[in-house]
Amino acid sequence: MRFASILLAVTLASAQDKPTKSLYERVGRYDAIAAIADEYLKGIRADPQFTRFTGRSADSLKRARQLLKDQLCALTGGPCEYVGREMETAHGGLAITDAEWEANRKHMSAALDKTNITGRDKEEFLALVESLKKQITARQ
Ligand code: HEM
Repeated sequence: MRFASILLAVTLASAQDKPTKSLYERVGRYDAIAAIADEYLKGIRADPQFTRFTGRSADSLKRARQLLKDQLCALTGGPCEYVGREMETAHGGLAITDAEWEANRKHMSAALDKTNITGRDKEEFLALVESLKKQITARQ
C-alpha cells in the first residue's frame, strides 16, 4: 500500500514536470521561431568572425533564411517540413571551426534573450541546436 502511494506520487510528479506542449508551442509558434531566426542571422551577419561566409546573392540568403526557419520549426516539434539539404551536405567543405561554433552558440543564445525565450525553454532550444554540431562543424 505504501509502495503504491509512493508510486502514485512519483507518477503524478513526473506527469506535472513533463510539459504537455511542444517547445514550438511554448516559445510562441511560427512567429516566434521566425523572430528568433531573424535575430540570430542579424547577429551573425554583423559579426566580423563570420565575414568569410558572406558574399552570396540576395536570393541565396533569402532561401537560407527561410530554410533555417523551417528547420527550427520542425526541430522544436512544429508542423513545418524541412525540405533543405542535410546539415552535413549544406556545411560540407566550409571547415567550420570549434571557435566559430562557439560564436554561433552565443548568437543563438542572444537571439533567444532578445525574443524573451528564457529558462527551461531556452535551454531546450540551445540543446536542440547543439545536437547539430557534429553534422555542421569540420570533418574536412
Ligand atoms: C558556425 C555556424 C554556422 C555557419 C558558419 C553556417 C554557414 C552556412 C553557410 C555558409 C550556408 C550556405 C551554404 C551554401 O549554400 O553554400 C549555410 C546553410 C544553411 N545552414 Fe548554416 N551555418 C552555421 C550553423 C547553422 C546552424 C546552427 C543551423 C541550424 C540551426 C544552420 C542551418 C542552415 C540551413 C538550414 C542552411 C540551408 C541549407 C540548404 O541550402 O539546403 N546552420 N550555413
